Amino acid sequence: MKSIDRQMLIIFGASGDLTKRKLIPALYELHKGNFLPKNFVVLGTSRSDLTDDDFRNRVVFNSEFLKDESEHAEATKAEFAKKLFYKDLGDGYDTDFTPLKEKIHVLNDEFKINHNFVFYFSLPPSIYETVAKNLAAVDLSVEGVGWKRLIVEKPFGYSLETAKELNKGLQKYFRESQIYRIDHYLGKETVQNLLVTRFSNTIFEPLWNRNYIRHIEITNAESVGVGNRGGYYDKSGALRDMFQNHLMQIVSIVAMEPPISDDPEEIRNEKVKALKALRIMEDDETIFDHTIKGQYTSAVINGEIVKGYRQEEGVAPDSITETFAAIKFYIDNWRWKDVPFYVRTAKRMPTKVTEIVIHFKPSHHHIFKDQDFDTDNKLVIRIQPDEGILIKFGVKVPGQGFNVERANMDFYYSDLDEGNNIMEAYERLLLDAMQGDATLYARADEVEAAWAFVDPILKYWNESKSATVHGYSAGVWGPLHADDLIEGRGFWRNPSKNLADEPSYCVLNIKKNGKKNI
Ligand code: BG6
Repeated sequence: MKSIDRQMLIIFGASGDLTKRKLIPALYELHKGNFLPKNFVVLGTSRSDLTDDDFRNRVVFNSEFLKDESEHAEATKAEFAKKLFYKDLGDGYDTDFTPLKEKIHVLNDEFKINHNFVFYFSLPPSIYETVAKNLAAVDLSVEGVGWKRLIVEKPFGYSLETAKELNKGLQKYFRESQIYRIDHYLGKETVQNLLVTRFSNTIFEPLWNRNYIRHIEITNAESVGVGNRGGYYDKSGALRDMFQNHLMQIVSIVAMEPPISDDPEEIRNEKVKALKALRIMEDDETIFDHTIKGQYTSAVINGEIVKGYRQEEGVAPDSITETFAAIKFYIDNWRWKDVPFYVRTAKRMPTKVTEIVIHFKPSHHHIFKDQDFDTDNKLVIRIQPDEGILIKFGVKVPGQGFNVERANMDFYYSDLDEGNNIMEAYERLLLDAMQGDATLYARADEVEAAWAFVDPILKYWNESKSATVHGYSAGVWGPLHADDLIEGRGFWRNPSKNLADEPSYCVLNIKKNGKKNI
């Protein structure tokens, strides 16, 4: 493990949901795993009037998100809670940070922190710049005596223009190398393993290009709806919520050129290059042909009525916000010229799954006459759940003649001994930022390149008369014509919960009264 300096984590928005749900549980796990430095404290701050003890009770002792079934749980929690402190900011974030600075300095001296501070903005992006300005006004952004880092949450911008403004706003007070833009998908082991799969094996890389790959398909499906986030989601939609960030990050890793080393800047340079090569769809006709926008409608699933999107709390009854987005696009560079990428993301799908499918071209000359389309080679990389890798290839059916059938070769993370100790995304990302490793954080130019691609689609979807939002019943794989996006005889691989199950495989639940339902 890399060395980790003594430091203080200052969380803005500490009375909010993210701190309780994700940040503190991640820090707790790091504490249990002995990853945190000996001299380490967390200072929570927000507008809520809390004492240190209130804060500790809220995020540790009374938190339903901090789970520990171990024998010494109570003692571990008590020991961990001693590292947590709280400072009330007063009425708002646009205020003089001198009292905050004083508290930081008291803790710094008491715990011998050496003035190394990480500021975590768990705040609405609209106030990022204000908070950065107020930190700078009391010299809390200045390095020299100790380093200073800033972690910011998504959404990073609402459009290309707002993302640029946000970048400029933060860069007025912090250097780019101090800014860590979090994308929790990059914290997933399986997303990181994409780099290893591609660049530590010789068998895949020679095939990883337009000569052998027919198309690439990425599915991100969630079975849940928007839940209690309707207010946020209705202004965002699937494209902003998932595609611009998480899925564009996956695309960039699948498409990037080999970096010259594992240095964070080398990796990020190659990712940006791939994103900059995305063919931006400018005209309405192309966007109409290459995208599908959908929204779930009410349905009965497992005997229960599931609300349609427009009936969800916080959603406008005539909303045209998409809960399903499928995009076909191209990357204009030497490696990917004319290879279609198909990416879709949606809520209220039949299952929760994220996977990448590399579809290889058919053999150049078919000598086995009955070899059909579906026996072409595929490499399925499962991000979640049932994490693993599956290769599909043709084998001979035993018996006379040369009948070809598809067979599977698979690897599962759960088979690794270390599989049980996989770090959660927030644990890994927090630890990386604490160690000053920005590999798994998005750089300003990456974020802007992704927005440059997404912007015209959003504009068309929201402003053009020819843009349509297609309904799909909650619990199905999106609008009826979703497969039309795929060229030729293609169709989406509607994955099952388990990696090796055939597409659309499902289990019929048996109800206690003996009646079957789906
Ligand atoms: C978040 C989105 O960034 O990612 C949510 O805002 C989405 O809408 C979530 O549900 C999905 O994350 P995961 O890790 O469960 O796939």
